[in-house]
Amino acid sequence: MTSISSSSRWTNADLGRTEVRDTYRADLRPGSRDVFADARPLDFSRLTWKEAGRPFRVENWSRSRREWEAQHEESLPVPVAWQLFNRSFQSLFDADPVRARVAALRTAGMRISSLQVKAAYAAISEVARWTIWNQAHRVGDTVWDPRAKRSLFEGLDLERPRILFLGAAEGYEAMLLSAMYPGGEVVLVDYDEFCVEGRFGAFPTDYPFLGVNPATGARKVWHRDEMDISYLVSDIRDLDFGKEFDVVVSIGLVEHFPDQYKPMAFDWHRRFLRPGGYAILTTPRVALRTKAFYRLFGDLMNFSYRELQNVAQLGLYAHENGFEVLRHGEIKSHNGIICRSR
Ligand SMILES: C[S@@+](CC[C@H](N)C(=O)[O-])C[C@H]1O[C@@H](n2cnc3c(N)ncnc32)[C@H](O)[C@@H]1O
Repeated sequence: MTSISSSSRWTNADLGRTEVRDTYRADLRPGSRDVFADARPLDFSRLTWKEAGRPFRVENWSRSRREWEAQHEESLPVPVAWQLFNRSFQSLFDADPVRARVAALRTAGMRISSLQVKAAYAAISEVARWTIWNQAHRVGDTVWDPRAKRSLFEGLDLERPRILFLGAAEGYEAMLLSAMYPGGEVVLVDYDEFCVEGRFGAFPTDYPFLGVNPATGARKVWHRDEMDISYLVSDIRDLDFGKEFDVVVSIGLVEHFPDQYKPMAFDWHRRFLRPGGYAILTTPRVALRTKAFYRLFGDLMNFSYRELQNVAQLGLYAHENGFEVLRHGEIKSHNGIICRSR
């Protein structure tokens, strides 16, 4: 991974700044748009599936999934699918996409000049992927999306919260929450051991999170090593916590469960929540842009069942699985809801 020198660690003097770095955007600009104020009002207690429609399913499977299944003559086990996903997705975060695009362009040129049509096509697709990833993640910040997520997480009644992140991968959103509501504790849970070093461990130590100073209430820049974070490698089904967390969060988890398993997935968000605690969920939005992304990035992303939802569908799933949806909205590429157990 491209490392950034410690001199690039931003301090409170950098509040308000944004900068496109080699592999990501650093962004300390305070939000200008409240995603909840903009959200279409929805009464989830009255909404029906007929009105909401059913989610879109992404079904162009990655080449490695197809190869694994052909070789083993069985369908790819879900935990193995996540192992493949995490290595593959992280390879995008680790790369400098501008350099990778230049290398892919050079390869494409060589393949074209030696008339290797198939290899040239593959290299040109690679150029397209790096161009889109550069725009989507590094320039547009649509994956981590700190400004919209801060807006999503704003105004919760939390003090020194204990935060549980289910299917945490690199743990980004729990760190953002921890900066906004400091002084508590974060527990990241994922059953793919690779995530501890390969995803959370690879997350840049220089990444600045915009949060608050608990002593003064003024804005403050936080870094991951100032937070109390532990990582638990475990199947969520094996966790033996009580109802002890102020926040249970998942980002891109419930849309991986077909409807017959949705009650189980939502129950995970309730089981460890103290009375009055918040469940926070986001899922990828159904839109032309996201459909095109999962098509072009199919080999890198599509290892297991995945739905693209709209915010009405996400909220309706939460409501019918025992949650009151307190707030809902759309962030750059995801839907977001803040819920309480009913
Ligand atoms: C789609 S990822 C979450 C998206 C994440 N923000 C990212 O950037 O990749 C879902 C994560 O949940 C984990 N996961 C899925 N089912 C799980 C289970 N039953 N127990 C623990 N972790 C699980 C996977 O290993 C994966 O890392």
